[in-house]
Amino acid sequence: MLNIAIINGPNLNLLGTRETDIYGNTSFDDFLLELKQRFPQVDINYYQSNIEGELIDHIQQCRTGIDGIVLNGAAYTHTSIGMADAIAAIDTPVIEVHISNIYAREEERHRSYTAAKAIGCITGLGLNGYAMAIQHFIDLLSPKTS
Ligand code: DQA
Repeated sequence: MLNIAIINGPNLNLLGTRETDIYGNTSFDDFLLELKQRFPQVDINYYQSNIEGELIDHIQQCRTGIDGIVLNGAAYTHTSIGMADAIAAIDTPVIEVHISNIYAREEERHRSYTAAKAIGCITGLGLNGYAMAIQHFIDLLSPKTS
């Protein structure tokens, strides 16, 4: 079974009630249930923290036992060289996801320290970005039948 980690950064624990015009009304717990139903062939390991060092610790832990990481570093995306270094330090591939289109928002959100260390980035497609990232890992990592 494919083991995928979803890692959410600061304030994403408030999804569903936080700035709903930008991030929507769905809580991540509800969305996670949908994801698990949609991808029964994937073991989805979910982690959220508001603390930069804890996120770095968790990224490091994902260097073994995890096939791919879907990372929404939230505000730390735009500030954390430490998180970028953690991604660079591990072999586990990372796909960066943002719910909103960071390039259509304030200038300070246009820069991502972490995206350059990821294999790719999905931004602005809402929560569906997480599902697209998981689908990409399935396409990339599942054994080919032909
Ligand atoms: C976000 C975008 C970030 O700029 C912001 O700080 C977040 C969420 C997104 O998913 O759109 O907290 O990563």
